[in-house]
Amino acid sequence: MADDDAETELEARLAEQDAFEPPESFVEQANVSDPAIYDDFEDDWPACWETAADLLSWDTDYDTVLDDSNPPFYEWFTGGELNVSANCIDRHLEERGDEAAIEWVGEPVEEANRTYTYEELHREVNEFAAALRELGVGEDDIVTLYMPMVPELPIAMLACARLGAPHSVVFAGFSADALATRMDAADSEYLVTADGYYRRGDPLDHLGKANEGLAGVEGDVSDVVVVDRLGENDDGFGHGLAEDQHDYDDLIADHEGASVDPVARDAEDMLFLMYTSGTTGKPKGVKHTTAGYLAWAAWTSESVLDIKPEDTYFCSADIGWITGHSYIVYGPLALGTTTMMYEGTPDHPERDRLWEIVEEYEADQLYTAPTAIRAFMKWGEQYPERHDLSSLRLLGTVGEPINPRAWKWYYTNIGNEECPIVDTWWQTETGGMMVTTLPGVKTMKPGSAGPPLPGVDAQVVDGNGEEVSPGQAGYLTVQKPWPGMLRTLYDNDERFIDEYWAEYSDTDSEDPADWVYFPEDGAKLDDDGYITVLGRVDDVINVSGHRLGTMEIESAIVGTEGVAEAAVVGGNHEVKGEAVYAYVIVEDGYEGDDGMRERIITAVEDAIGPIARPESVVFTPELPKTRSGKIMRRLLEDIANGEEIGDTTTLRNPEIVADIEDAVGK
Ligand code: WTA
Repeated sequence: MADDDAETELEARLAEQDAFEPPESFVEQANVSDPAIYDDFEDDWPACWETAADLLSWDTDYDTVLDDSNPPFYEWFTGGELNVSANCIDRHLEERGDEAAIEWVGEPVEEANRTYTYEELHREVNEFAAALRELGVGEDDIVTLYMPMVPELPIAMLACARLGAPHSVVFAGFSADALATRMDAADSEYLVTADGYYRRGDPLDHLGKANEGLAGVEGDVSDVVVVDRLGENDDGFGHGLAEDQHDYDDLIADHEGASVDPVARDAEDMLFLMYTSGTTGKPKGVKHTTAGYLAWAAWTSESVLDIKPEDTYFCSADIGWITGHSYIVYGPLALGTTTMMYEGTPDHPERDRLWEIVEEYEADQLYTAPTAIRAFMKWGEQYPERHDLSSLRLLGTVGEPINPRAWKWYYTNIGNEECPIVDTWWQTETGGMMVTTLPGVKTMKPGSAGPPLPGVDAQVVDGNGEEVSPGQAGYLTVQKPWPGMLRTLYDNDERFIDEYWAEYSDTDSEDPADWVYFPEDGAKLDDDGYITVLGRVDDVINVSGHRLGTMEIESAIVGTEGVAEAAVVGGNHEVKGEAVYAYVIVEDGYEGDDGMRERIITAVEDAIGPIARPESVVFTPELPKTRSGKIMRRLLEDIANGEEIGDTTTLRNPEIVADIEDAVGK
């Protein structure tokens, strides 16, 4: 049979197949392979979570697994004490001191990459912790980290954790304004940043953006540390360091050989804040704690990603998002494995960059996003075919739903039909994975994330909170607390309850059974209890796996001179999943022209960052509104997607729909 025929036949077979068993070779070696874990955890809940706590080293043992006396303010492993950096580094030194903790791959290919053994990581984290302490950072001071994908980012995170100082990482792609808002929201007086980084071979100015952000911070800023990433290549930017700015390398040199005792932290002490988009314009400061979060990151890394200490594990996310926190830094290092970091993009210098890295480092796992897989698919299989990917044992995806076609492409072209795929549903708020198959146990169904993990009580419910029957769609909920959950929104318990609990809970009740967590995702249940996540049901859109609040974008747009009103929705996009569509009404006396369009796009990039850049800006005389004055976003989504327009009878101004369609067509 000719190769082409074989391929067509394979494709036809795969296209039909809707369930895949985990490969026998994988099951034999899997960290978890006994299906009894599901029943065992249910029978033994919440004590089952001792399994996760046992993965950690404690300074003081905990008294209680779960304190649920004050829902929804749950506390886990109360009375226990530990230090996260000691768990991620010190305890591995004896057995893994000379092994790589971090393999960092820089972007310019000609540059030397860097390996940090556990010994080396230990040394530098201690030195930087000593430097931070000398600058005045103490327990509970929030340190903002506005850094690209350089090794100094996880080093700074671990140095903060060593001191008991929570960090708040702001994604390097976010704008100066976004940095200022987040520093002020957290009352953060310390910033660690970098002079720049590389994108597709060119140095980018990062310090300029950081300085602009700092100028906008209302609170006090005590000290700023700047990592010199670009060396001589930053001549063009030439910012130099201001008086309160310290060069990272100088600080490290000044504290050479320093040692900082890891501060024993209470299980419920804050480990970090992570700001994420919500329904209102103001980002939410999601608070994660020390023990429950680390236990969750470690347990899911072990049971879902199947990480073993001798593995080389590659997650292609950015540490500026939660995926990088839990599954580049904390989970993998807690298990003592080798975790990889890649500074660049998958298409530079060529579209086989990721596969080249997998081959060179013999990566055992690859954890990436559906948007990346869709791009790889578009580029074609000739890129992975150039490389030997046989080191891979497991593949994962996160961030958005993956369509079965992309799943099968990943399974065949990257996994060679030998690697299970875990499609992991979770959120910034959940701290780690919640709904996915255990790869050594469960059948995989492309397009469906899978059943809830053992001990996780996720249910799909209808508008009244009743569980839907198989085959039906509804809303995803989590009915019982879990160790990795957010504890609150920073400084805002009320908003925490409003955003996540009010929908399906009896908020007057003190009985935990009356409290239900609502992640604001729609979902569908099948006959085997598998959950297919359908996407957000709030005003959050998911662009390339990144959460963006439509309100945040709208408020940036209406801040532009000449704009009267704006509505933003997500429209389908082949690679990004969703893209930003903006509908804008201009004020009298202004013209909705290309100049205005440019100003709007710039305003969005300045307020949030290039990821929020609108794909399309449509000028319209009016927005479709209901009689009560609410914008009908669904109609705008239909228009963005070129779909048939839904029911317009409840509109106050139905005639506007045709006008907008015309404007889009222009
Ligand atoms: C979406 C990223 C479908 C979902 C870890 C969720 C997913 C939001 C999946 C959280 C998945 C994440 N299938 N949808 N496997 N994983 N999502 O906070 O809408 O950046 O609520 O956390 O991404 O995004 P966040």
